[in-house]
Amino acid sequence: MKKVKIIAIVGSLRKDSFNRQLALAAKEAIGERADFELLDYNDVPLFNEDMEYPAPEAVERVREKIKAADGVWFFTPEYNHFFTGVLKNLLDWLSRPVSTGEPRVVIGKPAAISGATPGMSGTALAQDHLVTLISFLDMKVMNAPRLVIPHVMQQLNAEKALELTTSAPYLKKQADAFLDFIQNSK
Ligand code: FNR
Repeated sequence: MKKVKIIAIVGSLRKDSFNRQLALAAKEAIGERADFELLDYNDVPLFNEDMEYPAPEAVERVREKIKAADGVWFFTPEYNHFFTGVLKNLLDWLSRPVSTGEPRVVIGKPAAISGATPGMSGTALAQDHLVTLISFLDMKVMNAPRLVIPHVMQQLNAEKALELTTSAPYLKKQADAFLDFIQNSK
């Protein structure tokens, strides 16, 4: 049987992003059960319809990555009770067909959502907005379980790196559930 491919989209470009670290913890939780890759989209330009066709190389690359994936796992920060601008920009690019007549790469893709924040909302509000958007894009959203991590500073080690304690079992549950969700979506 072909190994499942999961692509992780982190909504933060920050080097030490807690959400990036959460994505790496999710990779560990998935282990050998799937290929798990963090999408690199630093070089995707701001969306501009004037440069849509032919799409910039970076956009073509990320579209190919999504096309090849069996599932997309979002790790979203929360900015002003919303998900981030860089994530919206990426999704705007992904929402458009590669060329006229071709299907959009996100259609029907199983999607999971997690997020961590130093504050108390734990990204719940950002996640709700993200669900609205990716449902509109016809992604297949796994609404339960979603993972919300408030007060992330309480789960850091002495080096200030993310070391999940209370949230670890929930991340594992979400990883297990997402693998099942992907299999059941085939
Ligand atoms: C934030 N932050 C934040 N936190 C939160 O819980 N709710 C919010 O609405 C906001 N709003 C917000 C706006 C802006 C512009 C910034 C820069 C930050 C704090 C945010 O959660 C924190 O910086 C996280 O560490 C960002 O995620 P990464 O980069 O660590 O993954």
